[in-house]
Amino acid sequence: MQWHPSPSERRAHASLKWSTFPDNELALWVADMDCRPPPCVRETIYQAIEHGIFGYGTEPPGFRDAWVEHLQIRHQWSVERDWIVPVAGVVPGMRFALMAHPNIQHILTPTPAYPYFKTVPLVEKRIQHPISLNRKGETLEPSLAHIKEILNTQGEPSAILWCNPHNPGGTVFSRNFIHELATIASKNNTLIISDEIWADLILDDKPHNPLGLVAPNDQPTITLMAATKTFNVAGFGCAIAIIPEPNTRQRFLETQVAMPHVATLAYAVTESCLRHGWPWHRELINALKQNRNTVTEWAKGYPELEVTTGHATFLAWIESYNQTDLSERFVRQGVRLSPGTAFGSDTATRLNFGTNPVTLGDALRRMDTALL
Ligand SMILES: Cc1ncc(COP(=O)(O)O)c(C=O)c1O
Repeated sequence: MQWHPSPSERRAHASLKWSTFPDNELALWVADMDCRPPPCVRETIYQAIEHGIFGYGTEPPGFRDAWVEHLQIRHQWSVERDWIVPVAGVVPGMRFALMAHPNIQHILTPTPAYPYFKTVPLVEKRIQHPISLNRKGETLEPSLAHIKEILNTQGEPSAILWCNPHNPGGTVFSRNFIHELATIASKNNTLIISDEIWADLILDDKPHNPLGLVAPNDQPTITLMAATKTFNVAGFGCAIAIIPEPNTRQRFLETQVAMPHVATLAYAVTESCLRHGWPWHRELINALKQNRNTVTEWAKGYPELEVTTGHATFLAWIESYNQTDLSERFVRQGVRLSPGTAFGSDTATRLNFGTNPVTLGDALRRMDTALL
């Protein structure tokens, strides 16, 4: 695993992260990493070029098996092949899940949360109920009592749109927590949609607890996963929805008419990563841990900030007790982070530490100047 030596390598491409803002800014915002993906990605693409046929494709025969084996080996979840529905991204998967349930008007979402947790219910014209996550120890934690209270008083069909591990807080929810969440949902006849795109980017010795595995058997669940974040191939939109309950799956499948499907190369890249990317991934996790240490050490100099890195992701959530212009101050010194407002907090900003340690060090020094 090697970091890109300099940002200019990224700017040479139409990179959302590095080409959107002026060249004098260090881009530590959108969640992709400044490193090449595992070597198997290039090999897969070369093979496709050699093969040279780019007509309409179908799901490759090994794609589901690669997922089934991966979920069994790394998450101890025995998934049946039929439960899997490929989709062109986790975010589209969230939207399909809501489209499949037009009767569900109320959506409970963690806050702060990845911006699409607000956007998708908004464009689907549902009523949103934010569930606050507050700092507890090293992580951000929600209150199950709050979730219970909303569902108990609701009386109308609801869904919980969850994120585990959590972006931006890095929380890896315990088996107990997920079990309780699913039990509350089950008692209240509530669907749970769980975005688990970060499941394979856990930096500490904590198991990922897939919702679909932990939930009671009669609880309808839609678990969304992808290899794109894990292996840094977000440009190849490819994800899966895992839906054990047949009626829920059928409703989801019905939303797929006339929707864009996963591109042939995206299928192949995902499958190759799931099969061959793990030695690279081991190195990546070590490199990310080092960068996380750099951020936590830096944070010690700022007791007026609360910096949460949690146990997963390559993101740090930086909260100030009172300043609403943190992101702007950093931009003025040439560091582009993700403004907290989009995540539901005016006094926070999110830093992506999936970058070359030299770039990270430069950015933190610029942030020191911004905080003078
Ligand atoms: C929680 C979460 N869900 C989904 C996505 C994006 O998923 P996709 O690119 O597969 O639509 C991201 C990207 O950062 C994310 O953090």
